Amino acid sequence: MRVLTGIQPSGDLHIGNYFGSIKQMVEAQENSQTFAFIANYHAMTSVSEGERLSKLTMQCATDFLALGIDPKKSVFWVQSDVKEVLELYWILSSFTPMGLLERAHSYKDKTAKGFATNHSLFSYPVLMAADILLFNSEVVPVGKDQIQHVEIARDIAIKFNNKYGDILTIPEFRVQEEVATVPGIDGQKMSKSYGNIVNIFGEEKAQMKTIKKIVTENVAMEEPKEYETCNVYNMAKLFLEGDNLIALQERYKRGGEGHGHFKIYLGEVMWEYFRDFREKREYFEAHQDEVKEILKAGASKAREVALTTIEKIRSVTGISY
Ligand code: ADP
Ligand code: TRP
Repeated sequence: MRVLTGIQPSGDLHIGNYFGSIKQMVEAQENSQTFAFIANYHAMTSVSEGERLSKLTMQCATDFLALGIDPKKSVFWVQSDVKEVLELYWILSSFTPMGLLERAHSYKDKTAKGFATNHSLFSYPVLMAADILLFNSEVVPVGKDQIQHVEIARDIAIKFNNKYGDILTIPEFRVQEEVATVPGIDGQKMSKSYGNIVNIFGEEKAQMKTIKKIVTENVAMEEPKEYETCNVYNMAKLFLEGDNLIALQERYKRGGEGHGHFKIYLGEVMWEYFRDFREKREYFEAHQDEVKEILKAGASKAREVALTTIEKIRSVTGISY
């Protein structure tokens, strides 16, 4: 089975990215063909300083390797190193009804939040469909926010196949229900673009400072507290299992502790959880040339697959003549 995912290098990676997507990819490496890439063309919709984008691309690659993407098991590359994706993006545009894009939540949400819109934000799902379809992906692990984009890719692929025959593989999304949407420190979806993230590789003090800002209910110290609706608990549960999780629930129910105590606990378990990853990150941070070589080797493997698909597409559409 081929599993593919992409991530935008548009800011520091956060725990929503990790549990919503990266962790699933790392696990999938053991029994699937995994394809993971850094969506730097997509990031242009929000990062417009060149130096920053190239820096974030390397930072994201370094983070991915530290978090367990293994170039021996996965094909791992940067989107812009396989340019065929842009060709497919154009070809698919002719199979994308305007209404399909007008209904996309991500576009609607960004316009509602007052972001200046442009064509790339609008056509973003078509490029994402090209990412998915170029590599014959069967499964796309994503957070809940990206489900619609995978559905758009399916719709486009079906339209294309109706016209030209069974050329494109119809992809499916995979969402890990318990981490479908990790809340941010303000309680809405954690997202780089909303400035509400808890990042994975921050400094310990800065991390704790961010955690202290998590919005919580105003309940007196001695009172019992709701855990299901608590943003601190909903983050902490990602790092805890079994008895440790139950013990935290008991602390909420018992009362006698404030949310500040739970925040300190969250900071501690999170710091511990990412300890080994931090060590691995230091290695890759000090060996950026090795990271670049890994990416280039990944791009050439990805390109082999891309070429087979695009040549078939050029042929059936009459682009090759
Ligand atoms: P961001 O919203 O921070 O820009 P991306 O859109 O780059 O994040 O998302 C990369 C991956 O991480 C996607 O698969 C996305 O679904 C997942 N993801 C992002 N934020 C969350 C979240 N808060 N909860 C769960 N998954 C998330
Ligand atoms: N749009 C995705 C996000 O913001 C990133 C992405 C780009 C992606 N292309 C993809 C994810 C292809 C999965 C498959 O999270």
